[in-house]
Amino acid sequence: MDYFEYKNGDLYAEDVKLGDIADEIGTPFYAYSTATMTRHYQVFADALRGMNALVCFALKANSNVAVMRTLARLGAGADVVSGGELTRALKAGVPAAKIIFSGVGKTDSEIALALDVGIRQINVESVPELEAIDRIATAKGVKAPIALRINPDIDAGTHAKITTGKLENKFGIEWTVAHEVYARASKMDGINAKGLAVHIGSQLHDMEPFRKAYERMGDLVAMIRKDGLTVETLDLGGGFGIPYGDEAHPIAGVEDYARIVRETVGDLGVEYIFEPGRMIVGNAGVLATKVIYVKEGSTKTFVIVDAAMNDLIRPTLYGAHHEIVPAREPASDAESIEADVVGPVCETGDVLAKGKTIVRPRAGDLLAVRTAGAYGAVQSSTYNSRALVAEVLVDGDRFHVIRPRVGIEQMIALESMPNWLD
Ligand code: LLP
Repeated sequence: MDYFEYKNGDLYAEDVKLGDIADEIGTPFYAYSTATMTRHYQVFADALRGMNALVCFALKANSNVAVMRTLARLGAGADVVSGGELTRALKAGVPAAKIIFSGVGKTDSEIALALDVGIRQINVESVPELEAIDRIATAKGVKAPIALRINPDIDAGTHAKITTGKLENKFGIEWTVAHEVYARASKMDGINAKGLAVHIGSQLHDMEPFRKAYERMGDLVAMIRKDGLTVETLDLGGGFGIPYGDEAHPIAGVEDYARIVRETVGDLGVEYIFEPGRMIVGNAGVLATKVIYVKEGSTKTFVIVDAAMNDLIRPTLYGAHHEIVPAREPASDAESIEADVVGPVCETGDVLAKGKTIVRPRAGDLLAVRTAGAYGAVQSSTYNSRALVAEVLVDGDRFHVIRPRVGIEQMIALESMPNWLD
C-alpha cells in the first residue's frame, strides 16, 4: 500500500502531481510520501502491540534528516552504523536513549561519540571491538551499554550481497562462542552487558530463516541466564522484505513476522528492539526521471533517461528489479515496446531496467522508478560529475526539497588546487 497513484491521468504523490515537482525543480529527483512511511511504520508498530518493543528505523535505508524526523515524531528510534548516521539521527530529534549503534568497524572516535551522547546501546560485532569499547569507556569513567551481535549461521535465503547471518559473512560473534564472550563482557569495568542482537540479512520474503535465527537467540538467552548473568534486551534486527514488482507479498506479512517473534522469543521478559529500514521507506519513494532519447538499435530499443546508476545503483549492483511507470497515465490501447531503460553514465552496467515492457515513451516524458525510497538516495554518488540527486518530501498537498541537487560548482568548490599547479 502506498500513496502514489494516477488522478485524472497524472501520477500523484499523495496530493502533489509529480509533473509539478519536475516543472519546479527539474529532474531527476526522489519524492517520498509521508503518508506511506507513516502507514508502514504504524503497521509494523501495531503488529508488535502488547510487546515491550522499540522500533529503531535503520537510517542506512534512507538517512535524510527530514525522513528521520518524520519517523521520530511517530515514536521511532534509530539504528545507525556510523558517526555520520548518529549525528543525523540526533539532528532529526531522536533522543540518544533511542539510538542503537550497529556495524563491524566502529572507530575509536565513533565509539567515543556514541558514549558522549549517551547512546542507548552499542551492538558489538567482535572481541577486538568489545575490548576497544571497554578501553574507551573505562578511560571516560563510564560503563558502555552493549549488546553482542550474534552470527547465528542461518542462511537468510536472500541476495548474496545482503546476506549477513552466515559464518562466512563478516558480521557478528559466532553463536557457538557467544555465551563465553558475554560472560567475559559482564566482567569488564567499562562494559554493561545488556543483551543480544541479531540481523541475518535484508529483503527476506521467507519467514523461516527469521524463525530459525530467533529460536537460536532464545536458546542463547537461556544459556547465558543459566550462567547466572542477566539479559534484559534482545535486538531482532531488520530485513523484512517488500514487493518490488508484481510478486504478492503484502504488508500483512508483518503480522506473520510478529507471530514468529512471539512464538520464538516472546516469553523471555526482555525489551525487544527492531531495526526495519526497507519496509518503512522502500515503497514510500519514487525516483522521477525524464526521457532524453529513445534510441532504436537493430536488436534493441534503449530508453535513455536522465537518472543513472549514480542516482539509483540497485539494478546495477544487485540486478534489482524496479517497476518504471509513466507519470502520464497511458491510454489502454497505447503501444508497448520492450526496451532497456538506461542512464547517460559511460558504463554498460548503467541500467535501470533491462528488457522491460513499457508503453513507448517519447523524449521529454516523465517516468517514475518505483520502490526507490530505500537504499536509493543514500547510495547515490556524483560519478561522471553528475549532480547529486535531489530529494523531495511530500505531505498531503505540500512538498519541500529536503536535499537540493548538488551541482558541479559546489562539487568543484570542495576540491583544492596544490600551489605547484597554480
Ligand atoms: N540492521 C542491520 C544490522 C542491517 O545491516 C540492516 C541492513 C538493517 C538493520 C535494515 O535492513 P532492512 O530492514 O532495510 O532490510 N543496499 C542493499 C541493502 C543493504 C542492507 C544492509 N543492512 C539494497 O539496496 O538492497
